[in-house]
Amino acid sequence: MQAKELRKKYLEFFKEKGHAIISSAPLLPENDPTVLFTTAGMHPLVPYLLGEPHPAGTRLTSCQKCIRTGDIDEVGDDSHLTFFEMLGNWSLGDYFKKEAIEFSFEFLTSEKWLNIPVNMLAVTVFEGDDDAPKDEESAKIWKSLGIPEDRISYLSKKDNWWGPAGQTGPCGPDSEMFYWVGEGEPHGNVQTNEDDWMEIWNDVFMQYNKTESGTFEPLKQKNVDTGLGLDRVATVLMGAKNVFETDLFKPIIEKISALTNIAYSDNPTSYRIIADHLRAATFMAADGVKPSNLDQGYVMRRLMRRAIRHGKTLGIEENFTHIIAKKVIHLMADSYPELQHEEEILKTFTLEEEQFSKTVHSGLREFEKLLKGFEMAFKNAGKKITEISGKQAFKLYDTYGFPIEMTIEEAKKHNLTVDEKGFQEAFEEHQKLSRAGAEEKFKGGLQDNSEATTRLHTATHLLHAALRKVLGDHVEQKGSNITAERLRFDFSHPDKISPEQLSEVEKYVNEAIQSNAEVKMSTMSVEEAKKSGAIGLFESKYGETVKVYDMSPWSKEICGGPHVKNLGELGTFKIKKEQSSSAGIRRIKAVLI
Ligand code: ALA
Repeated sequence: MQAKELRKKYLEFFKEKGHAIISSAPLLPENDPTVLFTTAGMHPLVPYLLGEPHPAGTRLTSCQKCIRTGDIDEVGDDSHLTFFEMLGNWSLGDYFKKEAIEFSFEFLTSEKWLNIPVNMLAVTVFEGDDDAPKDEESAKIWKSLGIPEDRISYLSKKDNWWGPAGQTGPCGPDSEMFYWVGEGEPHGNVQTNEDDWMEIWNDVFMQYNKTESGTFEPLKQKNVDTGLGLDRVATVLMGAKNVFETDLFKPIIEKISALTNIAYSDNPTSYRIIADHLRAATFMAADGVKPSNLDQGYVMRRLMRRAIRHGKTLGIEENFTHIIAKKVIHLMADSYPELQHEEEILKTFTLEEEQFSKTVHSGLREFEKLLKGFEMAFKNAGKKITEISGKQAFKLYDTYGFPIEMTIEEAKKHNLTVDEKGFQEAFEEHQKLSRAGAEEKFKGGLQDNSEATTRLHTATHLLHAALRKVLGDHVEQKGSNITAERLRFDFSHPDKISPEQLSEVEKYVNEAIQSNAEVKMSTMSVEEAKKSGAIGLFESKYGETVKVYDMSPWSKEICGGPHVKNLGELGTFKIKKEQSSSAGIRRIKAVLI
């Protein structure tokens, strides 16, 4: 079965079971300052898992695009990816363990669906601890369906507990399904033969909210959150050795192969890094990310430059990233309509590749300077330096983006060595620091539903409307990031905004607030919403129902909420800063006082 078919079947199955199919949310979490990228299917659904009603009902299913950046350096082996797709189904206070497990079992094993022999499966359930009891209930359900007792492992929180994604939030015990990938007939279970069983699906029973004090209190509504790794299941269903041999990657690998004389089998690592990294970067570009030195842009730049370097390793001389991006677009635009902005995406790739080539040139210049310094040391002090230190190599890498491989190559030309160990140490030290930074970023509740944040969220709608009024209808939201202290709003506009325009924008928002207009929410189809004049970047494939927040006559926008009930609750709106975010995108930071 091809990945495309698997995607379709999953959604179809859950539709038959009364679930509404919802489109993948963007890779950049909306209004969530705590994470850089969407990392799981449940991520965009957090407000609904916490009790906010979802416009499409209490049973949902989706194929969500995700990015996880924790293991970038592992990519190249058989399994690690930065971009992946997660199929999922959710019950928002609707069904719980029994139905969730029955659905999973039926989809995996029924002849009509995946038709996987029961013998190829093993499962795990939560063993229990001081916070929550042993999950006998799930084990009993699995047994009633035909999973033998000795294929069920009871594991600790480390393995069988999911969430919260931040420090606080919805979480609970989970039950995971595994597929036999060992030699010969399936035997043992996840505990006895860990490496022979590969996790394919996770059913999370979200019944707790982890509080700031670290306690687990029962949630108002019991939810189910599941995640099935599309790439993993596609791999086993196709009988492929790894994901790079499935239809998700094969055409991309073939495209790379056409650009080089080195065969895939001679350097699979470089091929895989190029394929994975450029696929991820293509999706980032489709969601409006531009390579930069900050946040999401930094991750995109890092992925692209690593891919370009591996292109050089394969002997690819010309600019090639746009060729691979084009292939990714053609492969996946059916499933992800945002990829249809092909021209813009390819332009981003071409620009970054050109920029990188300039970086390499300036790196070479710095390298020359280093050599001059060595010569002077010899001339003035008779000191003969034969090695580039780890620190010097790291500075070339870190400050000028000059890759270590190129430093080594250049050094060789001048009969110099490089302290590679020292470089590695400096690199690891830096990584430790940046990882600490990243963890800082990932800390905090996934989505903060505090009153202060909610007020700033409503203010963001007014700001959006004000900008369109003052600057024109070309203004479109490109990103938004709200904390309890301030809002940050990115939008398309080519020029700097004058102080007069900024004060007009402020005036519009403050007039709206003073009008004490009521905030009304209604649900309707995307088409109806658009017809009603609501704005909002909403690319829907499934004709789904959306919420429209109406703050007439000031603003009308498609949005998941939450918002205040009356604009009068906002106080006074003040713009703190207006600046460029990236080419053609401006950024405003503002507060409510
Ligand atoms: N949220 C769960 C996971 O990512 C389903 O595994």
